[in-house]
Amino acid sequence: MLSYRHAFHAGNHADVLKHFVQVQLHLYMNQKDVAYTYIDTHSGAGVYALDSFQATKTGEYDTGIGPLWNATDVPEALKPYLDLVKGMNPSGKMRYYPGSPYVADQMSRLDDRLRLFELHPADVKILNENFRKAEAHKAEQGERARGKRVLIEHGDGFQSLKKLLPPPSRRALVLVDPPYEVKDDYKKVRDALEEALGRFPSGMYAVWYPVLQRMESRQFPDRLKRLPAKEWLNVTLTVSTPGPDGIGLHSSGMFILNPPYTLEPMLRETMPWLVQALGKDAGARFTIETGTQLTGAASGRLAGEGPRLPVGNARRASPLSGKGSLRLPGEKMVREGEAPAPAAPKAGARRAWRPDANVQGKPQAGGPGEGRAPGKRPAAAPGVTGARLGAPRADGARTAGPRPTGARTGGGKGGGKR
Ligand SMILES: C[S@@+](CC[C@H](N)C(=O)[O-])C[C@H]1O[C@@H](n2cnc3c(N)ncnc32)[C@H](O)[C@@H]1O
Repeated sequence: MLSYRHAFHAGNHADVLKHFVQVQLHLYMNQKDVAYTYIDTHSGAGVYALDSFQATKTGEYDTGIGPLWNATDVPEALKPYLDLVKGMNPSGKMRYYPGSPYVADQMSRLDDRLRLFELHPADVKILNENFRKAEAHKAEQGERARGKRVLIEHGDGFQSLKKLLPPPSRRALVLVDPPYEVKDDYKKVRDALEEALGRFPSGMYAVWYPVLQRMESRQFPDRLKRLPAKEWLNVTLTVSTPGPDGIGLHSSGMFILNPPYTLEPMLRETMPWLVQALGKDAGARFTIETGTQLTGAASGRLAGEGPRLPVGNARRASPLSGKGSLRLPGEKMVREGEAPAPAAPKAGARRAWRPDANVQGKPQAGGPGEGRAPGKRPAAAPGVTGARLGAPRADGARTAGPRPTGARTGGGKGGGKR
């Protein structure tokens, strides 16, 4: 069943969390002078038009990139991510949003390798076209051909991951970002990671997941904690209190196995601002947990034996501590002995891949525009109006609609994510 199309969800709060963290992981990988392989098991279309029928139908970018577009007091660590998104919108209007393959292409270096998997026939076609155009654009700019730097495969990312591990350079960043439309996806992620860690224990693995009421979702982070990775970090961003009907995606997480040591302090510094910028009500908050293989395993053994307590290095922020909620920008995080977050390192060789060619998706009048909450909230982005798109082929096929609202509750069969 392949009904999920990311075009309906592009740029939402979950994408902001995912791509912000992805950018940070690339920055960390780029610090070492050895090439790495980026593996995207669930790539999507690569670029999305925010004025397409799909994106405007749901308006989900209003929960994510929309409120960030005109923000002025952005924390340092968020800037490389926002610069990347703005770099693909040189007119200053918010029209395009990057998918994870685009983020990877921009953030990685010439010698790094991108291995992209996508199962949906329409999306893999758009993804191929986007990279073909990007290559042509770079050739025009005089950049040397990069041979097999980027390989795109129409196939199952869960199955394919193992055959790429370990990578030739013994360095890899893996993003696992399935739709979670079917509950099987949770198990498939866990199993694929277990196998991947067996083949390549030192890889960096990042998993996006929806925080939903359904049991598979609630148990998911604890299952990942028990995987045999040396260390893990789990960060969640909740933008609002779920309604009684449980409909909609209010919260999501990024679970990173073998995270950079810089990630936790950076997130502790940045997440309060994101909560402030994207939060809709008092339920908005973030959590950050970290642990080691030992503590993760200990947590697993304790499961079912009563309430879990932080063990050893397993630390927990809000909601238990409440310290993750709605802290004002500039307000000090009260955590004893915590080092200040380091400034984000400079991006590696970033190359321009500008939306410039195909016309895809009919623009809709109006655009992102919910003026949220008083005070410090950044203004909503200006609407996208006017001419038709000139873009790399953004995911805008009209064959599939958004999943029915009920399917996004995560409550039953077909429960998806964003
Ligand atoms: C959430 S989207 C990916 C978004 C993308 N990672 C990004 O951040 O821009 C999930 C994608 O996985 C694709 N998909 C679903 N099952 C898959 C599988 N087993 N292998 C590869 N792709 C799959 C879907 O077609 C969809 O495009």
